[in-house]
Amino acid sequence: MQMSSKRIALVSGANKGIGLEIAEKLAQTGMRVFLGARNAALGEAAAARLREQSLDVQFIELDLVRAESIQAAAKQIDTEFGRLDVLVNNAGITDPSDGLPGQASIDAARRVMETNFFGALAVTQAMLPLLKKSASARIVNVSSGLGSLTFNRDPDWEFARVKLIGYNASKAALNMLTVQLAAELGDTTIKVNAADPGFTATDLNGHRGHQTIPQGAAEAIRLALLPDDGPSGNFSSASGPNPW
Ligand SMILES: NC(=O)c1ccc[n+]([C@@H]2O[C@H](COP(=O)([O-])OP(=O)(O)OC[C@H]3O[C@@H](n4cnc5c(N)ncnc54)[C@H](OP(=O)(O)O)[C@@H]3O)[C@@H](O)[C@H]2O)c1
Repeated sequence: MQMSSKRIALVSGANKGIGLEIAEKLAQTGMRVFLGARNAALGEAAAARLREQSLDVQFIELDLVRAESIQAAAKQIDTEFGRLDVLVNNAGITDPSDGLPGQASIDAARRVMETNFFGALAVTQAMLPLLKKSASARIVNVSSGLGSLTFNRDPDWEFARVKLIGYNASKAALNMLTVQLAAELGDTTIKVNAADPGFTATDLNGHRGHQTIPQGAAEAIRLALLPDDGPSGNFSSASGPNPW
């Protein structure tokens, strides 16, 4: 095991999009970053590109819907460093057969929940023993404004028409994980917060988002770098606190 003075970070779904940006920016602060990806070729290639900038980035296989992949990743980080300082639960999916609650495919809603909620929960549970060995750990759940119950019931909200029962419920559940885990870990130095990236141009939405990827990644990065007197159990975007 290496006794690294660097902070050790893991970002899921980091081969592209917002996750890749988070991995790059955290590495630029001097962290050792495990770049999680379910596809080894894509993950290796993304990590290699970041290493070309002399960043300390290593691909790690992490598929949120495969328990053995999650366990192997936790074991690898334990063997190499014996702790984890930052976990960013970024990986997420949408599904073309998701939709309004009266019409969506139940299988599609289950698939989305499986990755976006159960996958993040499973990764968090697997990494928790390592996070508890950190002097000051951070967990960031990459949520969405679409997961806000308050926004969903506001007919005047900019995205009021985006009623995807599987996706929106998966992010509401991720918000619940944020609140409950922050309470459970309230007497520790681990901070748990949820970031809303805002509508960001990535593959997830066919690049229709209004924001750039650096703009979409900014709040998750800020929360991953919170100082020791920072908040826990919060839900926020780059423009400030979000309603639950
Ligand atoms: N873009 C937006 O407007 C927006 C807004 C609010 C919230 N978000 C959230 O931001 C996060 C990042 O999304 P993005 O916009 O950057 O989308 P993206 O470019 O599609 O990236 C999604 C990432 O998640 C990975 N992933 C999907 N399923 C996985 C699994 N089972 N195991 C491991 N990795 C998996 C993807 O891997 P592959 O390349 O192998 O598919 C990819 O690396 C998501 O949680 C999303 O819900 C995005």
